[in-house]
Amino acid sequence: MSTKTQIAGVELHSYIFNASGPKDVTFDELTIIADSHAGGVVIKTCTLEPREGNEEPRYCDVPLGSINSMGLPNLGLKAYIDMVPTLRARTKKPIIASLAGMKPDDFPVLTKAFIDSDVDLIELNFSCPNLKGKPQIGYDFEMTEQLLKDLFALGGTKPIGIKLPPYFDPAHWDAAAAIFKKFPIAFLTCINSVGNTLIIDADTETPLIKPKGGFGGLGGEYIKPVALANVRAFSQMLGDRMAIIGVGGIKTGRDAFEFLLCGADAVQVGTIFMQEGAGCFERIDRELAEILKKKGYKNIAAAKGKLKIL
Ligand code: SIN
Repeated sequence: MSTKTQIAGVELHSYIFNASGPKDVTFDELTIIADSHAGGVVIKTCTLEPREGNEEPRYCDVPLGSINSMGLPNLGLKAYIDMVPTLRARTKKPIIASLAGMKPDDFPVLTKAFIDSDVDLIELNFSCPNLKGKPQIGYDFEMTEQLLKDLFALGGTKPIGIKLPPYFDPAHWDAAAAIFKKFPIAFLTCINSVGNTLIIDADTETPLIKPKGGFGGLGGEYIKPVALANVRAFSQMLGDRMAIIGVGGIKTGRDAFEFLLCGADAVQVGTIFMQEGAGCFERIDRELAEILKKKGYKNIAAAKGKLKIL
């Protein structure tokens, strides 16, 4: 059974693809994703200038997931714009650019460059929790609205979506949704890691990672309930206007199926891709297809948003 799906009219042959973050910085890494079973290829969040990112150690696997404070290490705009045609020649899969400004003025420059490129979708990263001294944009509703105004004024037809931080209160979902309704947003990616968590090692009496005194973004199984709630809430409020991409703790086909029931049009994987490598795309997709078949759903659309109410 096929798990093919669509984001803003762009076809993905599989429901599962990579989240911006792990193993998607260099051309070689992107080639591995392109040659895998992933439904699309997301490029590491790109900034105007290349970035080394935060100091090591900045990523650590933990029993139920991972903690990271990478700090957006990436090759910078020029390198990715130069890379897109070669990547395009390599794969027919959708290519998704992810971008983040280090200051508000960077966003239009980055967005325009990718609008004019051969990528299929653009994901605005409004939610990296690991930039020292820079709050997550998605928690600042005024700035979010202003940036969306500036970026959608650029025009063009390239579908643009936003990667959101986790929200934890219905008032925040309502406030965010009221802003998102004002713009032709193509998709929401829910959620980035749960920011500024702290995991420590009682033996060494230190945090597991070095940047920001050990505070970092939590990923993996720990955050799946938060991610599911964000997908469900935004799907109920905005699912008729824009696609919702789920991310957070997806490790198995069963996890992906839970996101599908909550209304996700597709899912991305971060921690499990980091831990298992590119084989995870085929495995999770196969497990999801088996569940759909067993439950008698003919395709992704038939199960989307079908969470039953108690
Ligand atoms: C990072 O590079 O710090 C992780 C990616 C993100 O949080 O957006």
